[in-house]
Amino acid sequence: MALSSVFEAVASVAQIPREGVLPIVKSDGQRVCLIRSQDRISAVADNCTHQDFEMSLGDVLPDGSIQCAWHGARFDCATGEVKQGPAMSPLPVFEVRVEGDAILVGPVATRLGAGHQPCVASVSGSDP
Ligand code: FES
Repeated sequence: MALSSVFEAVASVAQIPREGVLPIVKSDGQRVCLIRSQDRISAVADNCTHQDFEMSLGDVLPDGSIQCAWHGARFDCATGEVKQGPAMSPLPVFEVRVEGDAILVGPVATRLGAGHQPCVASVSGSDP
């Protein structure tokens, strides 16, 4: 399968507020929470690993994490690693690219230890 076929354009950078989120649904039905933090874009599952609440209703914090709005679990935006309970499992993160103003989301990143392989893209279109 060609690499380009596993990434799909899901939104434009301008649709995501700075230090904010945008919920989207991939063509395969997966719900994804796009995050813009410090001019970097990341994409995480839109289901908290604690009790399945929508991460897109949470808050992006200055330290590069996202906090679930229900019980306050906090996850690293780039790796999904749990930074604060009550969640015990990392948030799945998706590979992500920015091409021009388009945000492209790919497959779930490889699990590495307590989180996933870091996945972020800068709004300028080059990976950090
Ligand atoms: S559902 Fe997210 S912390 Fe409980």
